[in-house]
Amino acid sequence: MNATSKKLISFGIAMIEKLKQIQDEIERKILEKAEDAEQFRLTYLSRKGKLNDLFEEFKAIPNDLKKETGKLMNQVKQLAQDKFNAAKEKFEDTSTITSNKYDLSLPAYPFIAGARHPLLLVEKKIVEIFNKLGFSLAYGPEIEDDWHNFSGLNFPDNHPARDMQDTFFIEKDIALRTHTSSVQVRLMENKKPPIRAIMPGRVYRNEAISARAHCFFHQIEGIYIDKKVSFADLKQTLYYFVQEMFGNDFKIRFRPSYFPFTEPSAEMDISCIICKGKGCNVCKHSGWVEILGCGMIDPNVLQDNGINPEEYSGFAFGMGIERITMLKYDVKDLRMFSINDVRFLQQFESE
Ligand code: DAH
Repeated sequence: MNATSKKLISFGIAMIEKLKQIQDEIERKILEKAEDAEQFRLTYLSRKGKLNDLFEEFKAIPNDLKKETGKLMNQVKQLAQDKFNAAKEKFEDTSTITSNKYDLSLPAYPFIAGARHPLLLVEKKIVEIFNKLGFSLAYGPEIEDDWHNFSGLNFPDNHPARDMQDTFFIEKDIALRTHTSSVQVRLMENKKPPIRAIMPGRVYRNEAISARAHCFFHQIEGIYIDKKVSFADLKQTLYYFVQEMFGNDFKIRFRPSYFPFTEPSAEMDISCIICKGKGCNVCKHSGWVEILGCGMIDPNVLQDNGINPEEYSGFAFGMGIERITMLKYDVKDLRMFSINDVRFLQQFESE
């Protein structure tokens, strides 16, 4: 035997020794947690692990030792792989499914979805209808001064609406707004015609709470100011609105009325859609329900707010969102809107 073969044989024997040592090491390793298993995998099974290094060296082993070494190598590798697999399974098990932290077999909590408030649904619908006619949206403050709520709208000093009995005053000339018409004034002072906007919001009046009245409710105001705006434009706009809102199955009438800020003024009624005009509690047995106030903006109001009434004219209207909602959804008691009873509110879930 020459020196090279001797060397190769001792290299082969050394390799078998090394494998046995690794086998021993692997057998004695205790894998207590997931991190140990990962460390184990890196040390023995990864591409840079101890066993892979030996596979490289294996190529140089003399042929008569190859069989024995190869067999041992595969055994050790299998041993490492089995040990790692067992540990992996165990830790996956305990960290998720069998740990007490999560019980995946429990039924899920019921997921209760909220519902939009009916007043908001109706407000949204009204806004959509007027948007189609080119009306933009505007908002104003709920705490108003006398000018925006009353004087700028041509209310005489002694008008009963200014009375303490109707208005919640905060201090002498500051009150909670009693209508959204106050936002008209704010628009007129800030914008030049043409102005075409609707103004939704909450308003307050000092009234006893009942099925028909509340101390706060919601209105939508609308104005259109431009050259040559006429009463015919007002009627056509409101016809379009009610038809989009309620359909065609009812009659409409305009009644002359009075508001300090419009001249002429009118109120618009629709035949009661609840009883089809036959007479019920909602229409107070008259067959008709008032749904809004409107009129041509009084020239004094335009003048006082910096718009020349010789050049421009305009119409305005204001409606109660509660009233429209009660008609649309057949709600008989105004208080339902503010007592937060989920049995009532849930009915609007799918809208
Ligand atoms: N502000 C009135 C109210 O609260 C409603 C109203 C009537 C608004 C006529 C208007 C209007 O713009 O032209 O009762």
